[in-house]
Amino acid sequence: MISLILVLITLSFGRKCYYYELYQSESLVDTVDSAFECIEEPTISKDNKKLVINRLKRNLESYVYKDILKNPPTQTGTYYYNKVDIDKEIDKINMDEGSLYEFYSQIQNLFISAKDPLLSFAILQKDEISIRNYIAYFYYFLPFNIMIDKEKHMYLIPKYYYKDTKIDVPTEIENNKNNYVKSINGDDPFELIRNFGIAFSSFKSPHAQFTNSKSSTLDNSFTQGNLVLLPLSKEYLRIPLTIKWENGESVDVHYSILKLPTPTLHDMVQDKNLLKTKEIDLDTDDIKSEYGDLNNNIYCKVSINNINTLVIKRFNVFNDMQVLKKCVELFDSNEYPIQVILPENDGGSEGLGIWIQKLLAPNYDADLISSARESDNTKGIITQEGLEEYVDPKTCIKRVLGNVKTKEMASCLRTAGEYLPSAIRKLWPYLPNGIKEWYCTKKLKEWYTKPNTIKYGSVKHVITQPSRLIAEPPLHQMKLMKNPRKPTEIVVYTDSFCYSACSIMTKGLKEWGGAIIVGFSGDPNGKDEEFEVGQSPSIRMKELFEEENTDSDPLRFSFNCSFLETFRHNYNYDESIPREFLTDVVDERVNIYQFDKTEEAISEFEEETKKIIEKYQTKCNPKNKRLVKIDNKCDKEINKEHGHGGYECGDKGEWSTKCVLAYCDSGYKFDYNSNQCIEDECVFPPSLNSGMPIMTVNLVMIIIGIITLIL
Ligand SMILES: *[C@@H]1O[C@H](CO)[C@@H](O)[C@H](O)[C@H]1NC(C)=O
Repeated sequence: MISLILVLITLSFGRKCYYYELYQSESLVDTVDSAFECIEEPTISKDNKKLVINRLKRNLESYVYKDILKNPPTQTGTYYYNKVDIDKEIDKINMDEGSLYEFYSQIQNLFISAKDPLLSFAILQKDEISIRNYIAYFYYFLPFNIMIDKEKHMYLIPKYYYKDTKIDVPTEIENNKNNYVKSINGDDPFELIRNFGIAFSSFKSPHAQFTNSKSSTLDNSFTQGNLVLLPLSKEYLRIPLTIKWENGESVDVHYSILKLPTPTLHDMVQDKNLLKTKEIDLDTDDIKSEYGDLNNNIYCKVSINNINTLVIKRFNVFNDMQVLKKCVELFDSNEYPIQVILPENDGGSEGLGIWIQKLLAPNYDADLISSARESDNTKGIITQEGLEEYVDPKTCIKRVLGNVKTKEMASCLRTAGEYLPSAIRKLWPYLPNGIKEWYCTKKLKEWYTKPNTIKYGSVKHVITQPSRLIAEPPLHQMKLMKNPRKPTEIVVYTDSFCYSACSIMTKGLKEWGGAIIVGFSGDPNGKDEEFEVGQSPSIRMKELFEEENTDSDPLRFSFNCSFLETFRHNYNYDESIPREFLTDVVDERVNIYQFDKTEEAISEFEEETKKIIEKYQTKCNPKNKRLVKIDNKCDKEINKEHGHGGYECGDKGEWSTKCVLAYCDSGYKFDYNSNQCIEDECVFPPSLNSGMPIMTVNLVMIIIGIITLIL
């Protein structure tokens, strides 16, 4: 009776979304065709489309790679980057009133084509549920996950649950889970996963695309995903897959759609309680053998195999610093090698990324050298937020905004316009004490107003003068390791799906030769020279905005993009290609194609680590001259002031007897181009260095001070 009424309601209203609303508290599995009746139902007006596109266009003015993407530089011997003209493409989007899903898909597909995982857009889930933001609750899935074994065979593992919802697995999938797949739709199954990655992953490196596409945990992979992250079309999801196994058996499967229950306020309260993770006892002074939790962001242990493991899933400053601190103590309590595993690491805090680089390789520069794209929007962001953590790399003077004298302050505030609230906020903490230094956030200094221009063919890239972010402990009590390992005693595993903070760290380690970097996962049959240590070593900006002009249910959107590009450590600060477009490739690869967060998986990595460390006693990667076998016997031979040496890798892949400069004393930077140790500007400020006696400087300061007072 009830279902009859439902059918009647559905028929009479002709609205599929209404049916989902009735089932709000349960998750539902539906067919693609049926679910798309609802997915395609919500519409967006012309005005709101215009609003969204204009907002995106304004924000894209601060997308630091917008120009380069039109004509990206290419290195010989690697794959080619897509050429994308975002300005042109965004103007092709259909602006007539119509399906929200279609509009949203067009934007997402454009962003995916830019192949920068930090360029992203989403419809946000809100507390008030309406069918207009339903997209966020729809997921596509296949009834299996993909596993690849050491022989590079692909297996389909039944997926019994997805998002805690039980799934019907065809018996053929169940029966053949131990047989490898021969073909899907007549093709090599690896080719299918590869092509999915090329089409739908936001990564540049083919290996990162493959890891993304093959994943069993991400929500934009071949076997599963959220339509908000990857709005696949109905036509695509309808295509049946004919799977053939080695034993000749076969089955036809197809995608299904899962609609998650839209949370009620009651559910949200419960969720918070669930999130309470198991308490970690961090108070005792005794060193335990493991800290953290494999299901959390940071985990570490020392094993009976005499290997230390650090697993980092995400760089999150707020939750995991106590664990990280304990891990450092644990690693300091022994002399064993360290392996670091970065499984599908999606970054997080850039500051934490460079700090962990510093923990692992304290002798090398982990600071960032960054620039932003010059535009009105960027100017607005910098005058509001400032770049106060950054310094001028040549003088170490802080990149604060212009220092405005008292009299100018009033006029500055008058012209602050839409930035006024933040101008006052900046000012406020200084007022009670009557401090002389007042800021008005309107004024930008020369480092912004005199930008650098780099040309890529006919394309101009106009950017702020480079600024330096210093690697500092995220918490004050955080210390560097007392017993740092040599680079040949640290093995870092990346699956190439390692972006933002993660790639900032892996690219830093690779540049300096701070560790042996090893690829796992990725495309088993892909090229070694395309296996990048990470992608998108950039600092992101975030923006939230809401639709206007709707009678009800305005949608809320989130937009992120790369805001600051980063450069390699060239102390003339004249690099012309950001690291985004420079490939950094792994030293070694291992035959491990997944990390399933178990103790056994960690032992599997330990076996490989042992072999690699053993190998690097005598052998090395001939393509990597930066990874040096540190030996103090070389210190004398290289004869560089403040310098320490080691043996360079020979062309045959064995350590040579040639001593080279490897790193410098603390306070000095290793200038690879001039092959010298140079003074760090922040340790030896140049003004005190340039021959002017300290007394004179002080006198000048006092005079300036007096003049200011008089004024
Ligand atoms: C933007 O970044 C924040 C975290 O840095 C993340 O929570 C959010 O989901 C991102 N938004 C998009 C559209 O990717």
